[in-house]
Amino acid sequence: MGKVALKKDIYWVGAIDWNIRNFHGYTTPRGSTYNAYLIVDEKVALIDTVKAPFFEELVERIQEIIPPDKIDYLITNHLELDHSGSLPKIKELAKNATIIASERCKGGLARYFKKEWPLHTVKTGDTLDLGKRKLTFVEVPMVHWPDSMVTYSPSDKILFSNDAFGQHLATSKRFDDEVGWEIIYPEAATYYANIVMHLSGPILKTLDQAKELAVDMIAPSHGVIWRTNIEKIVKAYYSWVKFEAKEKALIIYDTMWGSTEKMAKAMGEGIAEEGVEVRMMNITQTGRTEIMREVLDAKAVLIGSPTINNGMFPTVADFLCYFKGLRPQKKIGVAFGSYGWAGGATKAIIEELKATGIEVVEPEVKYPYLPEREELEQCKALGKRIAAQIKKQ
Ligand code: FEO
Repeated sequence: MGKVALKKDIYWVGAIDWNIRNFHGYTTPRGSTYNAYLIVDEKVALIDTVKAPFFEELVERIQEIIPPDKIDYLITNHLELDHSGSLPKIKELAKNATIIASERCKGGLARYFKKEWPLHTVKTGDTLDLGKRKLTFVEVPMVHWPDSMVTYSPSDKILFSNDAFGQHLATSKRFDDEVGWEIIYPEAATYYANIVMHLSGPILKTLDQAKELAVDMIAPSHGVIWRTNIEKIVKAYYSWVKFEAKEKALIIYDTMWGSTEKMAKAMGEGIAEEGVEVRMMNITQTGRTEIMREVLDAKAVLIGSPTINNGMFPTVADFLCYFKGLRPQKKIGVAFGSYGWAGGATKAIIEELKATGIEVVEPEVKYPYLPEREELEQCKALGKRIAAQIKKQ
C-alpha cells in the first residue's frame, strides 16, 4: 500500500499499525493507524508524522511523491509521540523545513527532543501560505493535550482534525465509505469513550468552531478519513459531549466465589423485566476499554465488588480509577457486593462514583457470604426501581 490521494496534491502518507493491541492502556483489537498528510504546493507541508518505529513507512510514502528534502513545513498539530515520534528523523531529511506548532507544543517538543529546530509558533486564526492555498490553524487545547491544534485548508475544504474524530482501526482502506459506518461507528465510539470523554467541554467548543467551516473531508490522525459520513459523525460527537444516553443499564462487576455475581444477575433480571436493556460485564472477562464504550450510552451503572482486605477487588479498583479519570456524567450509580466478616468494597465504590460526579442511589446493597433468596429478591426489586428511574429520565 502506497500513498493515497485525498484531493489534488494532498496525500495520506501515514503508517498502519496492524499489530498494536494496547494503546496506553486502551485495548486495540483492530490495531490503529498514524495518519500524516503531505500537501504539495509551491511550498510543501507535512501535517504530523508517525510513531517512531514507523518512520520508514512514512518516508517511503513521501518518496513516492517528492524527495523529503523538499518539505518546507513540518506542521505539528499535536505533541503526543504517536504523531511527533518521527519528527527528529524526518527533520534530518527535511533539512530546511520549519516546524509549525502551537506555543505549548513548542515547549513540549523542547522537553522531548532537546533540539534547536527552526520553529514558528501559531495561534488560532494564523495562516500559512503555501502558494495556491492558505492553511489556517485553530488551537483546540485539551483535544487531546493542551498543545493540540487542528489545521484547515479552506480551498480544499479539508479539516486535519488530529485526534478528534479518530478511531483505532487498522485497515487497507483509507476512507469511511470504503469501510462502512457499521464498522467505523463502534470504533469511533470506543475511541471517544476511552480517549476524550472527559474532555467534552473543549470538544463541544471545537465542534462549534468547526460548524462555521466549510468542510467536505475530515482527516483525523487515526483511522479512516471521513468524506461520506461527516454529518453522522459530527451528530454522534454532539450527542456524546452532551452525554445523551439510552434506556440501558450496565452491571459492571467482579466476583470471588460467585456471590456478587448472583446479586448482579438478580438486579439484571429486575431491570430486564421492566423492559430496560441491561448488559452484564464481568471486568475480568471483558476489560475496561469495551466496558467504557458501553458506559457511553448507558443511563445507569451498577458496580459490584466483593470485599477483599477491607476494600474493593483489585480489578474493580483498577476499573474505577480508569472510569473516574474519563468522568462519565449524567448517570445513575449503584454500589453492591458481598463480604465476609467486614465490608468495605461498596463504601469505596460509592466514594469513587461520587468523585466521578455520578448520582448514587443509596444505601449500597451488601450481604455477607452468600445472599439468601429474600436478599436476591431485594436485588431484583432494586433493579426494577433503577429501571423505573431510567425510564423517568
Ligand atoms: Fe493520537 Fe493524543 O495522540
